[in-house]
Amino acid sequence: METIFSGIQPSGTLTFGNYLGAMKQFVELQEDYECYFCIVDEHAITVPQDRLKLRENIRSLAALYLASGINPDKATLFIQSEVPAHTQLGWIMQTQSYIGELERMTQFKDKSAGKEGVPSALLTYPPLMAADILLYNTNHVPVGNDQKQHLELTRDLAERFNRKYNDIFTVPEVKISEVGARIMSLQEPTKKMSKSDANQKATIYMLDEPKKIIKKIKSAMTDSEGIVRFDPVEKPGISNLLTILSSVTNTPIKDLEKQYENIGYGQFKQDVADAVVTVLEPIQQRYYELIDSDTLDEVLDQGRDTANRVANKTLAKAKKAMGLGRVV
Ligand code: TYM
Repeated sequence: METIFSGIQPSGTLTFGNYLGAMKQFVELQEDYECYFCIVDEHAITVPQDRLKLRENIRSLAALYLASGINPDKATLFIQSEVPAHTQLGWIMQTQSYIGELERMTQFKDKSAGKEGVPSALLTYPPLMAADILLYNTNHVPVGNDQKQHLELTRDLAERFNRKYNDIFTVPEVKISEVGARIMSLQEPTKKMSKSDANQKATIYMLDEPKKIIKKIKSAMTDSEGIVRFDPVEKPGISNLLTILSSVTNTPIKDLEKQYENIGYGQFKQDVADAVVTVLEPIQQRYYELIDSDTLDEVLDQGRDTANRVANKTLAKAKKAMGLGRVV
């Protein structure tokens, strides 16, 4: 069986973009692959975090994974910092990375632009991400579009390592879903929907109350043409709503365009909002049942143990190939 690995940062409440671009795929993939899903808290600390808030976000993300449908009998769910092999192999992958290629990462450029005192971990974020993936002999990595560049670097680092030492790592493929890989802001639909948008109306959070979701979608930026058709350049707002509706209802965009041929934006927005609420309401219900339960800790304990077992094997192989430590 082929292996899937993916991670999400516990850096705030997840957005509906995270759900459509990543989590929704995870739930579908666990049926056919050996899956590892990670709460990447060590990635989250590349920018300052409040310690209590971080703890809360880690737990909340674990509950959201399960509430969204990750089944611990089928997939391994764990916290990155509870598997030390990640930072250990992360260091090794740094020895294979060039400063120039890390500086070219758009996420690094965005997060460091105009700032003084940029943490070096923001630059070395991608070698840690490579380590996450490579530890599990991963074949496919389902992510949203914004992670594509990091995945290409992961492949380069794996190939570079394999050429220099032995063929230790499986070189992973990026897996980006056809619809939903780049959900845009509701208010500025030319930029991506993000956890950290200052404008609260721009982002649907997975734990937003239904009333709030409906309000946000109804006030989403559109255009004055009045025709529901997909054209991301001329009509980014309507196109984004079509993408959302297509993704949550698993209906091709072409069919939706036909369905809404003579229907105005008001009704269209109402239908998008209803569809989003239909998906999120049961997830929210399960979330609140899980958040304070022992089940959550049991799943994370089990995930930690499985992940450590697999990751330590790969780490040992990589260390041996490089001549680290002693002969055992
Ligand atoms: P993060 O935490 O920013 O996002 C988690 C996942 O959500 C996707 N995503 C989106 N998809 C569609 N539309 C959007 N607006 C949107 N915003 C976010 C992201 O592409 C991602 O798949 N570096 C990663 C975390 C990570 C990781 C890994 C991922 C660490 N190690 C190993 C895969 C494999 C990140 O910051 O994702």
